[in-house]
Amino acid sequence: MGVDYRFPRHASALTLGARPSNDVNGLLVGALRARSFQIIALFAGEAGLLGACSGCSGTLLVSVILATLFVGCNTNQQGYEPEQPIAYSHAVHAGRFQIDCLYCHFGAERSRHAGVPPAQVCMNCHSQIKRDSPDIQKIDAAIESGTPIAWTRVHRYPDFAYFDHSRHVAVAGIRCQSCHGPVETMTRLRQAGTMSMGFCLDCHRKTEHSGNGAVPSTDCSACHY
Ligand code: HEC
Ligand code: HEC
Ligand code: HEC
Ligand code: HEC
Ligand code: HEC
Repeated sequence: MGVDYRFPRHASALTLGARPSNDVNGLLVGALRARSFQIIALFAGEAGLLGACSGCSGTLLVSVILATLFVGCNTNQQGYEPEQPIAYSHAVHAGRFQIDCLYCHFGAERSRHAGVPPAQVCMNCHSQIKRDSPDIQKIDAAIESGTPIAWTRVHRYPDFAYFDHSRHVAVAGIRCQSCHGPVETMTRLRQAGTMSMGFCLDCHRKTEHSGNGAVPSTDCSACHY
């Protein structure tokens, strides 16, 4: 199941080229693809390597803490496609009727979180459309009772990984589909890619600078603190 790697609206703003990658980071990322026990073993090896380079002690500390945190948990949820309380379809709304992603996920441009729209946004249309549908009546019920619709979250990072939508969507001009895949074809939403650390770093390494000249970081502390 492939993620769509087509490039951003302002593709010209992102120059893809070889930026010398940090060898230590490269090694670590390779190591991180392995899981649980292996990670510990590899980190023990890596620790020696990192200790050898001066100024890396921060990295080392983060590594050790993260390796400890990670033991035993498996965060790769690629393909996760939970049932939702209302049969809302991206294929109908974002595909057939081409409603802009930001019409509902307006947070993505302004803040860390893209957010899921409140029921009132649905009513901009559904106060008129499909009034006889039992699913639409569930939206009415949510508004009447003042309880938000209990959507099941699809993507979720552990607390130690930091991601910010507005930096990517508004500043770097990256399309939603570059990370979330062809959402406009999904009847039920699923996690399209691995969303792994390697996925993030892959683009950060290749990108020389974005629109405002900033170089996306490959330092551990950019995404972990
Ligand atoms: C009409 C409103 C609407 C539009 C337009 C819309 N979405 Fe959504 N989106 C939702 C709702 C409601 C949910 C929560 C239910 C679900 O997961 O299907 C959601 C969930 C998501 C999620 C999963 C969130 C999680 O739980 O992790 C992603 C990713 C997403 N949308 C991306 C997009 C993209 C990309 C587009 C444009 C191609 C888009 N959406 C267009 C309403 C919308
Ligand atoms: C910009 C207009 C618009 C918005 C906003 C919108 N919808 Fe829709 N919705 C439609 C249209 C158009 C259809 C297709 C109607 C048809 O099949 O004739 C539809 C169909 C549906 C259906 C299928 C109903 C059925 O029984 O066939 C559901 C469920 C639904 N929407 C849920 C939602 C939810 C939940 C939201 C808010 C997150 C939302 N919609 C926001 C326009 C909208
Ligand atoms: C550079 C990759 C990337 C891009 C581009 C991106 N997302 Fe996301 N998105 C993520 C990641 C990673 C998560 C999980 C973040 C977490 O759990 O902290 C996520 C989570 C979400 C969520 C659920 C959690 C939240 O933040 O509310 C929604 C909804 C969503 N994205 C919609 C969108 C939409 C719509 C766009 C385009 C306007 C978009 N994303 C662009 C990577 C991306
Ligand atoms: C398709 C390319 C791409 C992908 C994929 C991507 N990023 Fe980025 N990221 C960028 C660019 C470009 C910037 C610089 C934006 C700016 O100019 O401020 C950036 C900036 C950031 C920043 C702000 C700090 C900095 O380096 O300037 C963080 C944190 C970040 N990204 C985390 C992530 C995480 C976590 C993921 C994985 C879900 C991810 N990124 C995936 C391109 C990408
Ligand atoms: C561009 C953002 C980014 C950078 C830079 C980054 N990480 Fe990560 N890292 C992530 C994300 C996102 C996850 C969570 C992935 C998941 O849950 O699937 C993660 C997960 C991890 C994990 C848990 C194991 C795993 O693979 O899920 C460890 C350990 C880790 N990172 C260590 C590091 C170290 C050490 C560095 C510096 C060499 C580093 N990270 C640099 C984004 C980044």
